[in-house]
Formats: sequence, structure tokens, C-alpha cells
Amino acid sequence: MAVQKDLDELYTVLDKIFRYSLGDKGAYSCARFDGDYSLSIEEAQIKKHQFIVDWCNIKEGTKVLDMGCGWGAFIDYINKIGAITYGVVLAKGQSDACIKNGLNVRHMDSKDITVDTFGKFDVVTAMGSPEHLCSVEEYKAGKQEEIYETYMKQVADLLPVGGRFYCQTMVFGPNMVKFEDIRFNQTNIYKKEFTDEELVDIICQVFPGSWLPYGSEGLIKPASKYFKVISIDSGRLDYMETIVRWTAKFLKFNLKKHLYYASLSPRYIMSKSFRDFLRRWNTGANTMLFQKEIFEHYRIVFEKVND
Ligand SMILES: C[S@@+](CC[C@H](N)C(=O)[O-])C[C@H]1O[C@@H](n2cnc3c(N)ncnc32)[C@H](O)[C@@H]1O
Repeated sequence: MAVQKDLDELYTVLDKIFRYSLGDKGAYSCARFDGDYSLSIEEAQIKKHQFIVDWCNIKEGTKVLDMGCGWGAFIDYINKIGAITYGVVLAKGQSDACIKNGLNVRHMDSKDITVDTFGKFDVVTAMGSPEHLCSVEEYKAGKQEEIYETYMKQVADLLPVGGRFYCQTMVFGPNMVKFEDIRFNQTNIYKKEFTDEELVDIICQVFPGSWLPYGSEGLIKPASKYFKVISIDSGRLDYMETIVRWTAKFLKFNLKKHLYYASLSPRYIMSKSFRDFLRRWNTGANTMLFQKEIFEHYRIVFEKVND
């Protein structure tokens, strides 16, 4: 599982850039265009949030937990309809920003939540955070299935029978490469072209401590003891479009943001690890992995059927 240091490396270091680009409570997971690319990214994020509201029957007074809530985009959305919201996030920059923005968010590891932490919920959501549940080392040690089983039991314990769990995550797709063929941390990231195995290596470096589930089954099977699937669809094409829109937002001129970019120049010049970090980020590996169907993305609504 990704630990705080891993998550801070990505989300806290780039916290200001994200917030200046996507808004103080911006969403940082795949939006829902459903093929309608005339929508703005903001409209597509709202469409995703409304989809969850509709499918999870969220109304005034519904008690909702968002695991790995990022900058709080979803809980901010459902606060407006009177839901009772709790967010949990492990990256410190994100929890600080959420708390400063008046959201009910706690800085903690979501795996430590039990019924004693906040009581039971009507609905649990997780957008993007399931991507960080299992590390490469844990996968190698044969622990992946057990990790997702423990996670699904944890979520089930927080819900009554009939309670819904919205889960969206990248997964490995049909063209995933063989684990044994990946030479971890050995890719020359300054090359122009990469093999499929190198693309996977680059993304493992972008998201340290994270190894994805294999297909939708990688989540549905460990959930099946407690949950049935109410709705499932692929967000692969929507994710590719979301990345295009984010890139445009990161580049769009904004004085505060560009002054902040300028303030990072000494660090860029002095620190090779920072240059490498930005380079990995700019390789476009994520998009290529989706194009090649080495990565997939699923949006699943589960309903709890058994204790
Ligand atoms: C891809 S981002 C998505 C953020 C948010 N859900 C959204 O849609 O905007 C994944 C989030 O999961 C959080 N996260 C990952 N592992 C976590 C853990 N074990 N406990 C709490 N938060 C975690 C990260 O800090 C990050 O905010």
C-alpha cells in the first residue's frame, strides 16, 4: 500500500499547481463525459458526481464517507444537497487544503477506519484511492487478493445491508505486460520512445507504492462475499479525455500559478530528482497505457448484500 511519503511525493509537492489549475476543491480523478466531449471538464466532473448521487440515493441527511477524498470535490458537491459528509485523505497537503476550505476531512490512512472511527455510513465512495491499495512488493509477495478482500470487508463493515459503495479505479487492461518482464526503476526516462514494459515502469515511479487490480474482476471477486454489482462501465476513453483537459489546465496562464512555476526554477536546476519527477510526469505514459489497453478504468456501484 502507498504510505504517506509516497502520496506526498505526488499530491503534496504539486498541491499548489493542482489547486491553481483545477480550483481549490478541484476533482482529481476521471470525469464522466460518456462520449460527449463538448462538455467542459468541470461539467464532466459534475456529471460524475451527479451519477454517484443518483445511483447511491444520496439525499439531504445521507451519511457519506469519501475514502481518499483528494481536495474534497465530491464532498463539497454533496454538502450542497445537505448530505452529512466525512472525508479521509492521507496526503498532508490535501487534508490541510480541505480543512482550510471548511470541509469535514481527517488526515488519516483510510485502512485504519473502523465503525468506531465515525460510526456507520449510508454510502461509501472511493475515486482513485483504490489505485494505491497494493504495492509492487505486496503483489510480488502474493498478497494482492488478500489486500482487496480486507478492503472490501472493511467497507462492508461500515455499511448496512442495502448500503451502496461507489468505487472507481484504474485497473490493468487486457494487454497488460508480464510482471516478470518489467525492469523496475531501470527505464531511461529521457528517451523518446518506450516499450510497453517501460511505460508500466514509468507509471510505477509516478505512483510509488501502487500496483493496480487486474481488470474489474480484481475488485469484483474480492467484493463478492459482501456485495453485488449494480452498475459497471469502463471509463478508459473518458480518462484519456480527462488527461487532455488537465494538461490544458496545467498550461493555461494564471499569474499566481506561473509565479509559483518560476519559484520552482532553482529547485529544477539544483535537483536531478525533481527534474526526473517532472520528466516522468511529462512522458505521457498514462495516456499511452490507456491507448494500448494496458490500463483500463472502471466505475462500479456495489450494493451490500451480506454482513
Ligand atoms: C487519484 S486521487 C483522487 C482524489 C479524489 N478522490 C478525487 O476524485 O478528486 C487519489 C486520492 O487517494 C488518496 N489516498 C490514497 N491512498 C490513501 C489512503 N490509504 N488513505 C487515505 N487517502 C488515500 C490520495 O491522497 C489522493 O487524494
